[in-house]
Amino acid sequence: MPNTQSNFVRVADVNDVPEGTPKGVKVGGRSIALFQYQGSFYATDNQCPHMGYPLTRGRVRNGVLTCDWHGWSYDMKGGGCFTGGCDDLDTFAVEVRDRGIYVDVSSRGSKRKDAHFLLLKEGLLSEDNWTLSKAIAIMLARGVSEQETLKRVVQHLGRHIATERGANDGGRELAMLVNGVKVARHYEPDDRLIPLMIAATGASGRAGDRPAVQPLPPPVTWQKLQHWIRVFSADKSWEGIEKCLITLRRLGGHDERIIPLLYECALEPFFLGYVENLPLLGFLAELLEEFGWDQVEELVCNLAAKILGRDRGAPEELRLAAIKMFEPINASINELASTTTTSKAAAYDEDALDKGLVSGNLAQTFNAITDALKARVGIDRIATTMVLLAADRMARTPVNMNPGWGSLRQELILASSVRTALRYGGFTIGARALYHAAWQFFSDRWLNISARSLAEPLGTTKSGASSEEMGLRMVMDSIETIQV
Ligand code: FES
Repeated sequence: MPNTQSNFVRVADVNDVPEGTPKGVKVGGRSIALFQYQGSFYATDNQCPHMGYPLTRGRVRNGVLTCDWHGWSYDMKGGGCFTGGCDDLDTFAVEVRDRGIYVDVSSRGSKRKDAHFLLLKEGLLSEDNWTLSKAIAIMLARGVSEQETLKRVVQHLGRHIATERGANDGGRELAMLVNGVKVARHYEPDDRLIPLMIAATGASGRAGDRPAVQPLPPPVTWQKLQHWIRVFSADKSWEGIEKCLITLRRLGGHDERIIPLLYECALEPFFLGYVENLPLLGFLAELLEEFGWDQVEELVCNLAAKILGRDRGAPEELRLAAIKMFEPINASINELASTTTTSKAAAYDEDALDKGLVSGNLAQTFNAITDALKARVGIDRIATTMVLLAADRMARTPVNMNPGWGSLRQELILASSVRTALRYGGFTIGARALYHAAWQFFSDRWLNISARSLAEPLGTTKSGASSEEMGLRMVMDSIETIQV
């Protein structure tokens, strides 16, 4: 439909816009760039669709307007973008009457506005925070759902890790993504840009191409494949694991059993001390739950295979002793599961558990867990004690004691990831996970932090937080206060 003349507003005199000297004007709160070229006048949005640079600082040649920042160029009449997959530029109808320039800002027509997805891809590939921030900001402003944005980030991470990363780097990036998103979700939607950008940074990096992993031909069964996955994990052969996982997916009907199987492999006694296994599998399980297999298959199958099939040196003497001690416990956990029903009313000696965990004696450390399980204390409750114990030990460690903080952090992460293991793997997985977390407390005995009752408040003032959620809110608020 043609625009009516009444929509035109006078924005400048023709003398204000000589050829070669563009002028910026405001119309209805919007910044418009005016150009004269070969005797005709043009009006465009003054913000470059790429990253918002003022186009009045750009150059015009042969009817092509080129932004001065990254050189993206546009048809100054129709707004079409010549560069990569960028959005088209808004351009407006212009009339000259009585030596005045009139612009109709309602006349921009329909322009392609999906380049934020390409911008996001560009930011992910280039690892450029500014580009990522811009892309996410545009997506949030245009009402693209957070789920849609994250889906693309997660898919990119899957390909990036599959083609560029091993277990350690890939795991670190996965942790950065998932933790960033978790932090972001504690903020109001309007305040999520920075944490989401940091999360996306974790997923960024080159992503190459590779042939699709082909499933094994029949006959293969669940029994055979899960057996091979265990064997390849023990043999440190990640490619075999990935192949079997993809075959399981194509076989169908076993999706629900894959995460518990991965946990079982990751909790084998020989993985004692591999503190990243549990939290990383938890992150993969959470992404799977949120996005589904279609979106995260490559990430889950490839990274889980790399984690379980990672190269491992021979265990040192003490760890070897721990592995030997854990083997019979591990073997008896199924039996424990069949005879143990947890009870909320179970007598729970939390102090005894704490003492055992930090006793510096391996047998006492493992026994403390076994005793609590046999007393029918819930795994969730034991894990909570471990989280509190780790936090308490952190609170009693001087900030400047650098070497200790990495270990204390691992205690906290590992203890809290027991809950996720329990949630996705059930009792036997959760119980095994407790021993892996307990090993971390034992191996941190050099920190020499004495045991104390967690029931006693640490300081003279209590926080007033009556729940975990409230405590977290207080931490987030204090971070906001200091404007981190
Ligand atoms: S901001 Fe214009 S090309 Fe990048």
